[in-house]
Amino acid sequence: MTRKPLIAGNWKMHNTTAEARELVVGVMQGVKEFEKSELPDIVVAPVFTSIPAVSEEIFEKCGCGKVALAAQNCYFEPKGAFTGEISIDMIKEFKAEYIIIGHSERRQYFGETDEMINSKAKAILAAGIIPIICCGETLEQREAGVTDAHIASQIVKALEGITPADVAKSVIAYEPIWAIGTGKTCDSVEANRVIAEIRKVVAQVAGRENADKIRILYGGSVKPSTIKEQMAQSDIDGALVGGASLKADDFVEIIKGAM
Ligand code: PGA
Repeated sequence: MTRKPLIAGNWKMHNTTAEARELVVGVMQGVKEFEKSELPDIVVAPVFTSIPAVSEEIFEKCGCGKVALAAQNCYFEPKGAFTGEISIDMIKEFKAEYIIIGHSERRQYFGETDEMINSKAKAILAAGIIPIICCGETLEQREAGVTDAHIASQIVKALEGITPADVAKSVIAYEPIWAIGTGKTCDSVEANRVIAEIRKVVAQVAGRENADKIRILYGGSVKPSTIKEQMAQSDIDGALVGGASLKADDFVEIIKGAM
């Protein structure tokens, strides 16, 4: 089964609009010499306020079609009295093709539950957008030996009520919380093991064929120096990159490491 690699940059709460433009232009410059067919799928996720500017750089000024746009979050209701929230159609207006949901920072600091993440996943897929569904264990959970059970529960709940065909189109990111922003990358063999477990859970809910199609990324201190070994694993289909996606050169090195 060949799954197209995907490298996604989660810019988190970084970059003004001008900085976001500069960063995406740097990434596009860095991959200029390659054909789209040679490259992994490349995704950048700026903050909401920079989405229009980054969209303009990608689709109007460059038009190379090599970089796709993502949002870092969304709300599942289409409109209404939800102060501070942003709907999927509002994101779609700027040609975003992906939306990250359930990032551990959203779960941890903003109280997002598995049920909310499931509602978001369903609404995103209904709008024809690809959810990047994040999961991952804390250090305490890992030390207590409940990693696999915790991740299986997160995945089953996130995918509840989603058609098998839509599951196949989705993306999952396995991000051990203790590896995020800490410089402590999860050992590639162990990351691959957990990702293979996630694929088994997906097979239980959506069938083996769809589990073979879904792309599952690793995230957590991915760097230019770690990507090759990570991509060499059987079940790791790409990376969700935080810190190292904020420097065009590093992100481009990671993209090249997935080729
Ligand atoms: P990091 O973040 O690469 O800075 O560890 C990854 C993420 O949170 O998606």
